[in-house]
Amino acid sequence: MRTYEQEVNRLQYHFTPPQKWMNDPNGMVYYEGEYHLFYQHHPDSCDWGPMHWGHAVSQDLVHWEHLPIALKPDHNGYIFSGCAVVDWHDHTGFFDGGSGLVAIFTHSSEDATSGRVRQVQSLAYSRDNGRTWTMYEGNPVLEDERFVDFRDPKVFYHAPTSSWIMVLAAGNCLHLYRSSNLLEWEFASEFGTEEGCHEGVWECPDLFELQVDGKPGETRWVLVVSINPASVDGSKTQYFIGHFDGYRFVNEHSPELVLWLDHGRDNYAGVTWSDTERPLEGRVFIGWMSNWMYANATPTEQEDWRGAMTLPRRLTLREELDQRS
Ligand code: FRU
Repeated sequence: MRTYEQEVNRLQYHFTPPQKWMNDPNGMVYYEGEYHLFYQHHPDSCDWGPMHWGHAVSQDLVHWEHLPIALKPDHNGYIFSGCAVVDWHDHTGFFDGGSGLVAIFTHSSEDATSGRVRQVQSLAYSRDNGRTWTMYEGNPVLEDERFVDFRDPKVFYHAPTSSWIMVLAAGNCLHLYRSSNLLEWEFASEFGTEEGCHEGVWECPDLFELQVDGKPGETRWVLVVSINPASVDGSKTQYFIGHFDGYRFVNEHSPELVLWLDHGRDNYAGVTWSDTERPLEGRVFIGWMSNWMYANATPTEQEDWRGAMTLPRRLTLREELDQRS
C-alpha cells in the first residue's frame, strides 16, 4: 500500500481525508480524552456530492486515527454541516441517566418535482464515544419553511440561563434558539441583517465567550460567521465581538465594521471544539483549508483524495490600544 509520504501532493501535517472529497469540519467535540473531528464527505468521488460525515479522533490534534463514516444520508436528506456536544446530564434522555454525544446537523434535500431545497435541523446520538450513531426518530427537530438557506447549527450549553443555545444561518442573517433538552427549540432572536459583510450567503456560525487579555472577570462574546463568496478572495470568515445574555447577541462595534478572521484565502467554514478544558482562556478552532472558488479543482485527484483542514489554532481575545469603532 502507498503511504502518505509517497504521495506527491499529500499534506503531512494538515488533516486530509484518507480517500475522496472533504469540505467543512463538523461535530468537533472533546470527550473522554479524545478530540473528535467529523467532516463533510463524499465517499464516492473527489467532487462534492451526497454529503456524509467522515470521522477521525486524536489525543493531541496532531496525530489522527481515521474511523468509519459516522452519518449517512437517509430519507430526510444529505448530512450537511453541524456540531456535536456532550449531553453530560442526559437532558435528551438518550443515555439512561449517563452522558454521551449528540450531533446536531442539517438535513438537506431537494423536492423531486419542484426542485425546491429543504433544509431542516436533526439529531443523532452515540453511546459509544462516537463509534456508532443512531438517528433520532423524531427528526427533524427544527424547521422553518420561510428559508431555503437554513443550516449549519452550532449548539452550546449556557449555564447562566440553564439552556442549550443554537445559532444557525437563516437566509442573510443568523437565528438563535433555546432548548432545555436539545429536542424542542424555541426562537430567541436574530442577528446580522444590517451588520458586517453581506456580499455572499452566511454559513457555519459559532458563538462563544472568551476572556479579554486573560483576565478572569472580563469577557466578551465572539460570533464567527463564514461568508461565500466575498467579492475579494471568495470564501471568507468574519467575526463580531459583543455581548450575549442567553437570548440576544449585541455587536459592540459599529454595524459597518468588518473583522476578518484570516487574511488568507484558505480558511473557510471553521468553528471551535466543544467541551474542551478551560474554554474561556482559548477556543480551539479548525477550518477547511480551501475555497469554493476552486475547491473542486485542486490537483490531488490522481491520489484519490481532495480537501484539507487548516492546522488547529487557539483563538484568544486581546484589547488593542487603537480601539476600532
Ligand atoms: C459550507 C457549506 C455549508 C453546508 C456544507 C455542505 O462550505 O456550504 O453551509 O452545510 O458546506 O457541504
